[in-house]
Amino acid sequence: MSTEARPLRLGILLSGRGSNFLAIAESIRGGRLPGVEIAIVLSNVAEAAGIAAAEQIGLPHAVLVSKGRPRAEHDADLIACLREHRVDLVCLAGYMRLLSPGFIATFPNRILNIHPSLLPAFPGLDAQQQAFSYGVKVAGCTVHFVDEHLDHGAIILQRTIPVLDSDDAHALVERILAEEHIAYSEAIARVASGDYEMQGRRYVRR
Ligand code: GRF
Repeated sequence: MSTEARPLRLGILLSGRGSNFLAIAESIRGGRLPGVEIAIVLSNVAEAAGIAAAEQIGLPHAVLVSKGRPRAEHDADLIACLREHRVDLVCLAGYMRLLSPGFIATFPNRILNIHPSLLPAFPGLDAQQQAFSYGVKVAGCTVHFVDEHLDHGAIILQRTIPVLDSDDAHALVERILAEEHIAYSEAIARVASGDYEMQGRRYVRR
């Protein structure tokens, strides 16, 4: 009988480019996320480049188009697919659709999201542009648990960068993205370790 622990199975949800998904996949391939595997990559958009990338690198993937469908109905299909693939941890990686309360209740403290700002500043769309226009001197990204409010759940980790006088919004987007690619794998490793406790909203490492 094997004494090895069962791997933690990720379900990646995306809608677009998929660079965060690919960074996670690369961490796994490079042995930097031991005991973690990608069970399924799901997109709600058929043309998402991230799904083409999943196919190319030979990972299980599926498209469940959400356009024109009631949220709860579409989310029920997502849940069924994630269950079928025995997903333990859902990772939103540029998933551009709000999740229903039913979906969130199905995976309590088991859904992560990455957001390209230092939350609670600049939730919502175009966070980097919001931060740039506001004139912040420090920017960054946040990986957090997902609750029923947008970009709101308990923070697992943040990575920061200085905003340089020479930056334009595009440069800032690129430099934050490089931090995102490090942050997401790090957050997954922390959650996978189970070595933390929640004190209210506070994620605290043991
Ligand atoms: C990232 O900036 C992420 O923080 C935000 O959506 C973008 C997705 O980019 N939630 P990608 O599809 O992972 O390249």
